[in-house]
Amino acid sequence: MPASIDLAVIGGTGLYRLADLQDVEPHQPVTRYGALSGPVRVGTLDGRRVAFLARHGEGHSVPPHRINYRANLAALQALGATRVLALNTVGGITERFAPRVLACPDQLIDYTWGRVSTFSEGDADDGRGGEVLHVDFGDPYTPALRAEVLRAARAAGVDLVDGGCYGATQGPRLETRAEIARMRRDGCDLVGMTGMPEAGLARELGLDYACLAIVANWAAGAGPQVDEVITFQNVLDNVAAASSGIPALLRRLLAG
Ligand code: HPA
Repeated sequence: MPASIDLAVIGGTGLYRLADLQDVEPHQPVTRYGALSGPVRVGTLDGRRVAFLARHGEGHSVPPHRINYRANLAALQALGATRVLALNTVGGITERFAPRVLACPDQLIDYTWGRVSTFSEGDADDGRGGEVLHVDFGDPYTPALRAEVLRAARAAGVDLVDGGCYGATQGPRLETRAEIARMRRDGCDLVGMTGMPEAGLARELGLDYACLAIVANWAAGAGPQVDEVITFQNVLDNVAAASSGIPALLRRLLAG
């Protein structure tokens, strides 16, 4: 039985380390699903065990459609994690989700394609004994964990928008203005490239999973300047600015 982990954090674009983690040890578990994005760094934060994994690799070398989501989540679970906080850098589509806002979405729409999106391969060799899984996904993020994240943010004095619909796109290119207009009509508030299949796979594994979305830019055509060009540097600058409250939020979340 692996030692338990109080919280696993998956970092997205611009979030490659958890600076406050103490006594960090790298782990690179071997999973039946192949290689992870990079080492899982397990350490302590205020005496609680926290695992951190950079989803794109620590040097941002893995594009969204090539991330081995299954290996990443299976490794976190093998290390003893039962709850996962996914940090996702996103574009904002609707008014409440301006650059530098933090949000805890409660819904998602999956526009990705061609990604391995299940552990359930329907053959006896798939590690699940061939069981076909049709997991409930009406609430794609675990309501109890979302509630804890929101409570932690309030206690830490960190502004966090409660709710919103995350639209997961294929990338790695950004979207056209027409695509974002369609996503807005569909009901999306946020757009990112890594929210799926991660959330669905976490549910298949029975992990508690919530998303902390960091708005890095207005999605194409969504901001006040319709033809604004989105640059990676701007994304990184906004993520850095918006992330300043995350350590305090995590500490409150771990304190329970
Ligand atoms: N679109 C998709 N993914 C993103 C964006 C965006 O505008 N910004 C950060 N990740």
